[in-house]
Amino acid sequence: MNRPASSADTSVDGKTTEAQRTGPGAACPHAESGAALASDQCPVSQMAADFDAFTGPYQVDPAEALRWSRDQLPVFFSPRLGYWVVSRYDDIKSVFRDNITFSPRNALEKITPATPEAMEVLKSYGYAMNRTMVNEDEPAHMERRRVLLDHFLPENLEAKQEMVRRLTREKMDAFIDSGRVDLVEAMLYEVPLNVALHFLGVPEDDIAVLKNFSVAHSVNTWGKPTDEQQVAIAHDVGQFWNYAGKIIEKMKKEPEGTGWMHETIRKNAEMPDVVPDSYVHSMMMAIIVAAHETTSLASANMFKTLLTHRQAWEDICEDPSLIPNAVEECLRYSGSIVAWRRQTTAPARVGDVDLPEGAKLLIVQASGNQDERHFEDGDQFDIYRDNAVDHLTFGYGSHQCMGKNIGRMEMRIFLEEMTRRLPHLRLADQEFSYLANTSFRGPDQVWVEWDPAENPERQQAGRARENLHFPVGAPSRRNIARKVRVTGVRKEADGIIGLSLEDAKGRPLPRWSAGAHIELCVGDYDRKYSLCGKPDATGYEIAVLREDEGRGGSRHIHEVVAEGMELRLRGPSNLFRLDEEASNYLLIAGGIGVTPILAMADRLKALGKDYAVHYSGRSRRTMALLERLEKDHAGRVTVYGKDEGRRADLAALVAGLPEGGQIYTCGPERMISALEDLTAGLPEGTLHFEHFSAHDTGLDPDRETAFQVELKDSGLTLDVAANETLLDAILAAGIDIACDCREGLCGSCEVEVLEGEIDHRDMVLTRAERAENRRMMSCCSRSQAGGKVKLAL
Ligand code: FES
Repeated sequence: MNRPASSADTSVDGKTTEAQRTGPGAACPHAESGAALASDQCPVSQMAADFDAFTGPYQVDPAEALRWSRDQLPVFFSPRLGYWVVSRYDDIKSVFRDNITFSPRNALEKITPATPEAMEVLKSYGYAMNRTMVNEDEPAHMERRRVLLDHFLPENLEAKQEMVRRLTREKMDAFIDSGRVDLVEAMLYEVPLNVALHFLGVPEDDIAVLKNFSVAHSVNTWGKPTDEQQVAIAHDVGQFWNYAGKIIEKMKKEPEGTGWMHETIRKNAEMPDVVPDSYVHSMMMAIIVAAHETTSLASANMFKTLLTHRQAWEDICEDPSLIPNAVEECLRYSGSIVAWRRQTTAPARVGDVDLPEGAKLLIVQASGNQDERHFEDGDQFDIYRDNAVDHLTFGYGSHQCMGKNIGRMEMRIFLEEMTRRLPHLRLADQEFSYLANTSFRGPDQVWVEWDPAENPERQQAGRARENLHFPVGAPSRRNIARKVRVTGVRKEADGIIGLSLEDAKGRPLPRWSAGAHIELCVGDYDRKYSLCGKPDATGYEIAVLREDEGRGGSRHIHEVVAEGMELRLRGPSNLFRLDEEASNYLLIAGGIGVTPILAMADRLKALGKDYAVHYSGRSRRTMALLERLEKDHAGRVTVYGKDEGRRADLAALVAGLPEGGQIYTCGPERMISALEDLTAGLPEGTLHFEHFSAHDTGLDPDRETAFQVELKDSGLTLDVAANETLLDAILAAGIDIACDCREGLCGSCEVEVLEGEIDHRDMVLTRAERAENRRMMSCCSRSQAGGKVKLAL
């Protein structure tokens, strides 16, 4: 087929299609559905009317193109597209989560309706694309997924690592002495295709034909071809359909064949109700594209991104343990799945927008992946980001990409081999071009160059670096740490030192928001500290209280850390976010809890908000950051020194909180507990707090009880043994879930509870939240008395 124009050359400007006929300035879709809306709630703003998914900024950088939407109108109707566009992380996740209200049935629908001529062509081939795993509704989808999932589990993929590495090395051998190559052509297209065909058990003899078919399928489903292109594409798609049918017939004659499609064909024979004929043919066609095109595109994005951010490339060359998380950050920052689709089966609400039944949604993962409400400094590329794994590139829930761990593994092995054998690789001067479509994104070519004389394997020292061994699956958090240098150590108060930290190579550290913390790794100790410097500074400031009765970390830091020392650091992360929409704020700090409170006061001052700070401590001598607080926030700070006989009257403070006000507190447990009591009758969300330390959350298998957990979104039921945490059971089942402290302190492993009584053991939830029984921390909390628990996961 003739490839339709790429977004970097001419725009694909076909004739008017059905979806376009509404056009810019069309009436708000709510008006048609009869729903009455105040004028300021109309989801069709000028920006929404101008939104074009096929040309312009969205094709250049989808996340940046929707920045305005994330900030102003996170759910809007696009008259040009005929879809509701969803751009914020939480909203996208909530749509993925509910696959009943937000059906996947339109996921593979042609986004540009076929012309009558194209339809005729497709009919002439007997084209009958039906439901696949991607667009099947429940209950059929989960029943089928469970039957066909085994091949995709991490333990069953381990054996494939060797094959992927061998294929990668063979491709590299062919170009390593050339000094210049298009990586897509030379490696990134064919290796994923070969791996996919091997995994599926499909013959590898028609690679060139398959490439043509894959492009046709992508443009047919997600692109905007002209009328003439539609006919040409219809022929390609029709031939692809027949080709897939022939492969199936051939495979049916090989009952002992290995690979996932053979397994699917066997299940088709064993249980035709669960895996019907129509599914097998459609799946064969869809999976050939899904199993490799997305990995090829993601890999091309990855090399472009890493070589553009040279420092990140050099860091992974120097320290290959960073590679798995670099892959994850590339998937977040420039993943190959930009957007996906859903359709409402009933009137529904996303964010604060009501949608009618039948509404079509374009959920833009690329935008959610850079949403600052979830990712600190989200539009920056940072291979040290410790929640990169939260990205939505693979989707989420029961329809999450089954092949995610194959894709991750291939991308990681590409990086392991390339950084080992060609660390001096650089991006050549070039214009990047992309296939214009709503959903898949990756450059057509990535030209790179290098001096072969500098190849490590030609150097006198002889050998390139050895690879580490990484397990299949999401990256381990242990390896995600950046190097920083201590540039200042000073006494902040009795028993408290302040540390100034800068990037070890002098680069700016990531921006952070008020309430954020980092995890400092010193010797064998990893300890979390809130950031308390100026957010616009290039370095970080923290304050460390020496706790002689603690577990030894703070004592060690006090004893060994000195100016000039190099340390490792994770983060920043923010689990104590400031809601900047409140009318006024009460900030209450106890002791070293002043650190996040000071950052919040700085932020509120910058925003021009009404706030007051109440800071309690044993005496002024033991209270850190007091001087800065009183200087920068003069007139708003009240200090309570115990030795002066002054105590904060928490009841009076809470009673004086104006309506719509919020309280943020960090300090000793008894203070937080008292505030929880005092705010029990106030609206939900009034009190926000952060603890310093956890209770003992260690497991004693003699006292624990095993229980069962049903994961509704993933359609799985797991047994949690007495000697394992719920979190570990979930991770072992191949479900990606963020976790940080693993001791009930940080809130990152939170899961939504649908049924079951929970024994809450965390320090994150308020009493009211525990009583509601709708959330739990999977790293430490368990089922009450061994009863079954059902989670929205
Ligand atoms: Fe931090 Fe569970 S991982 S609360």
